[in-house]
Formats: sequence, structure tokens, C-alpha cells
Amino acid sequence: MAKRTIVLMPGDGIGKPVLDETIRVLDAAGFEAEYVHADIGWEFWCKEGNPLPQRTLDLIAKHKIALFGAITSKPKDEAFNELAPELKEKNLVYASPIVGLRQHFDLDICMRPCRSYKGNPLNFIRRSADGGVEEPMVDAVIFRQNTEGLYGGVEWSNPPQQVYDALMTNKAFVKNFSSCPKEELSVSTRIFTKKYTTRILKAAFEHAKKFGYPSVTLCEKPNVIRETSGMMYKLAQQMQKAEYPEIKLHNTNIDAQMMWLTKNPEDYGVIVAGNMFGDIASDGFAGLIGGLGFAASAQFNQESGIGVFEPTHGSAPKYADYDVSIVNPIAMVEAAVMMLEYIDEKAIAAKIRKAVADVVAEGKVRTYDMMKMSGKADVITKGAASTQQMVDAIIAKLA
Ligand code: NAI
Ligand code: MG
Repeated sequence: MAKRTIVLMPGDGIGKPVLDETIRVLDAAGFEAEYVHADIGWEFWCKEGNPLPQRTLDLIAKHKIALFGAITSKPKDEAFNELAPELKEKNLVYASPIVGLRQHFDLDICMRPCRSYKGNPLNFIRRSADGGVEEPMVDAVIFRQNTEGLYGGVEWSNPPQQVYDALMTNKAFVKNFSSCPKEELSVSTRIFTKKYTTRILKAAFEHAKKFGYPSVTLCEKPNVIRETSGMMYKLAQQMQKAEYPEIKLHNTNIDAQMMWLTKNPEDYGVIVAGNMFGDIASDGFAGLIGGLGFAASAQFNQESGIGVFEPTHGSAPKYADYDVSIVNPIAMVEAAVMMLEYIDEKAIAAKIRKAVADVVAEGKVRTYDMMKMSGKADVITKGAASTQQMVDAIIAKLA
């Protein structure tokens, strides 16, 4: 069988070391693939005026599966200042290549598993009733609608007259906002469509069914945000009743959910939410399992099969220049594990995950974040493992 081709987008900063090291894990675990490099990120904005060049989109369209490290983004003015001089007259405006990727390939399903590793010193602990300490094992998967809602990009400051006139047809708008001058209004819309809401709900229920989770929790705010959250809740109820009677549907409000995270996080399995609340819920859960060194994310489109797998951390620019990379590669390795599961390489995925679990449980090799150190270049001399040493340890456990 022809080898599969995987597109590698290291991006900026620590995206490079964590992706390089992750490929070593994939090789050592016996995953056979060809890798092609694709350009993305700040360097290409500065040199070419485009952080997501067409050639990168072409590679992803062709090969369908991509591993992504991280990119650097900067505010508009800084972005303009760093453009190559010959590009400065071209009226270019910086746009995030991550959002660009989502939109271009319609990567509407975002999936973020948050599972605790036994022995991780960063695991959430809580005090029990008798004053002892409990360490609940979290096993949650957040399904976040990835293309609509508050990140849909439909927004204005000082909206055009037509938009303003349309808003004035709404009673609540007239009552609450018509006394504000139009020039002082900023509006960001939260648009949900039935099609994409149904798709994310379906993905969540299917995941629960496939992996034996007893419930799906919708984490929105339907009592207040009646139209969008309300539609999502209604669709979830219908879907549960018609197609997944064996799976329970819970409905929690995003604000209360964040409070409950530190009370009973082990009680949640599959969580599903719109774009913004999914983002919030997944960061909340990620904090319980070790934070940025452990949190990974998949975004995909079920029709085209295109999938991009990445750690949720950014490019951490201040760590990128250290002679020896100190950042935790586990988030990127987790992303690669999700990729393997997605392309049905389940045995290799399980093998790598077990190796990571063994390293964490043994506790001999820990990156600086796991030792609760501040990320200075000298952490290695203080006993923290480098990015490479962590990967060496994972590889040693694969044998
Ligand atoms: P960041 O995630 O890059 O770093 C924040 C802090 O988290 C770091 O200073 C470090 O202390 C810690 N950290 C991050 N990754 C770690 C790892 N693997 N191991 C151990 N510690 C880790 O977020 P920040 O500083 O807000 O943003 C830096 C740049 O990254 C910005 O330009 C931002 O726009 C971009 N960014 C890109 C993302 C992406 O590519 N998906 C996501 C978030 C931010
Ligand atoms: Mg986030």
C-alpha cells in the first residue's frame, strides 16, 4: 500500500521543536508516512504578505491530513510594521492563518479531549469533606462548533445604515440601545445555522456512542440566549430522543459549568457547545489536566475528510530562542495521537498514549511546567527535562 502523506506545518517559535520531536515519536512507534513541509505563520506574513500561502492550502487539499505546530500573531499595527518594505504599499491586512484554515476548508468540528494522566503533578486536586485530598481523573471531550457564532466574523463598529435600520426593527434593540448614537455602537453577531449546529451535535453523540460515554452535556445558555443556544438545545433534545435514546442529554449553562469544573469534573464525558462557549469550556477542562503542555485539538470536516491536528498552545516566542528547547512536547504528541485515531491507526495511537502515560506515571522525566518552575533557560540545570529528553523518554517506553 502506498504510504500516506502527512502535511507538516511547524509554523513559528516552539511550533518547530515540538513538531520535529513528535515526528521522532511517530517514527519510533512504527507509523509509516511521507511528510511534506508546508509554510505557515509570521515569517510568511513578513516576507510575502500572506501567513497562509496558497501552496500550503494546495498541499492540505491534496493530502488531507496535517499536523500543525503553532503560529505567532500580532496586532494590526505591529503586523504592518514588520512587513517587508516592498509590501507596505499594498494595503495588506493581517488575518490569522488559523481562522483562515478553518474557513477555507470549512473545518467545522473541533474536538478537544481532556484526559488526566495518572501521576501528573499538574492534575487538579480538591479537598474532600474529611479534609483529605482527592485527585479526580478527568476524561472529557469537548466538541466545539468551529466556524460560526461569535467567531463568524459578522461584526461592525458604527454599523452601516441598513444594518442599523434592521436592528431598529427589533424591540429589545429599540428599548436598550436606540438612545446610543450609531457611531458609538459596536456589534458582534452570534449566528448559528441549523445545518452546522446539527453537525456538531451529531459528532458529539456519535463520539459518546462509539466510546461508551453515558451522556452528552450541552454547555450553552438557552435560558438567556434564546435563539441560538435555544435552537441548539432543541435540536439536541430531538436528536437524543430520535437517535440516541441510550445516551443521556444534560443541559448546563456555561457560567455554572465553569464553577462546577472544580467540584465534579470527573462526572463529565462528552461536552458540546457553540464556538465561543466551546472555546471557554475546553480551556477550563484543559486547566484541570495540566494546561498548555497537555492540551491538544483536532479540527476537521467530515465530508472532505480534511483534518488539522495541533496543540492548543501558541508559539511561546520567548522560549523559541533558547539553545535547548525546554517546552513540553506532550500536547503536540497528543495531537499526533488524535491524528492517528482519525486515520484509523488505532494500535499505534494506543501505543504512543501508553508510552506517554508511563513516562508521566513514573515521574522521572518532567519538563519545567510539570515541575512548576518558571520557564527560564536554566531549568535544565535545575533538573527539568528538555523537549528532546521528554521525547527520548517516551520513545524508550515504546519498546
Ligand atoms: P503561548 O501558548 O504561546 O504561551 C503562553 C505560555 O504558556 C508560555 O509563555 C509558556 O509559559 C506556556 N507554554 C506554552 N506552551 C507550552 C508548552 N508546550 N510547554 C510548556 N509551557 C508552555 O501563548 P501566548 O504567549 O499568549 O502567545 C504567544 C504567541 O502565540 C502569540 O503570537 C499568539 O498570537 C500565538 N498563539 C498561537 C496559537 C496557535 O498557533 N494555535 C494559540 C495561542 C497563541
Ligand atoms: Mg482558546
